[in-house]
Amino acid sequence: MLRFLSDHFAFFRQFRETFESTGAIAPSSRFLARAMTGPLSKRDRPVRVLEVGPGTGAVTQRIVRLLQPGDRFDLVELNPVFANILRRKFDSDPAYHRVADQTTVHQIPVQEFVADQPYDFIISGLPLNNFPTALVREIFETFFRLLASGGTLSYFEYMYVRPIRKAIGSRPDRVRLRELEAVIQPYLRQHRTHRSWVFANLPPAWVQHLRPRLRGPV
Ligand SMILES: C[S@@+](CC[C@H](N)C(=O)[O-])C[C@H]1O[C@@H](n2cnc3c(N)ncnc32)[C@H](O)[C@@H]1O
Repeated sequence: MLRFLSDHFAFFRQFRETFESTGAIAPSSRFLARAMTGPLSKRDRPVRVLEVGPGTGAVTQRIVRLLQPGDRFDLVELNPVFANILRRKFDSDPAYHRVADQTTVHQIPVQEFVADQPYDFIISGLPLNNFPTALVREIFETFFRLLASGGTLSYFEYMYVRPIRKAIGSRPDRVRLRELEAVIQPYLRQHRTHRSWVFANLPPAWVQHLRPRLRGPV
């Protein structure tokens, strides 16, 4: 309970201090974490997993439970406060510590992250709807560069946030959201395998699951 409260407090503080990159008022629910890790839970061999934007670890705590010997787990987090919280968990929380030897927390923007091998699963909590169009384009290119052939990208977005903001947002925001859609929709049309609906989250969210049909970008 103490951990839950301190994670929520740390998250809320970062939400106030770095709204654009934190993008949410509270960590994701365990229902959303379960939907994000659905494809990972069905794997049948050792895998490489990349979590992007783990924050205080709402999804990480589910990933660490699913990891097995022989897996590799990398986390890429922009915010140094969150990266330190996570590193402390891998040092001292038994559920995290179990897989500490297979894991690295990288404090770096994902668009600058370079890996020596591609990943079978990329699980992203990035608040894409808050970002400039050019950054979202760069992030999708990064995801598809880092995904192994046959790998799965799972990311969430809050339900109907783009249509709502397009209806009531400022003019520059409406233009930006239209541009975002033009970047994201081709990826969804070409590569989406399914979408999970998660109502037990604040706010409710969709999880988009994509598997590249061809190696490389769209
Ligand atoms: C909406 S929070 C999600 C946190 C957590 N995954 C959850 O579901 O509760 C977004 C996270 O993405 C991180 N982030 C934002 N931009 C990033 C970037 N370019 N590279 C890596 N992490 C980023 C933020 O610092 C924050 O931790």
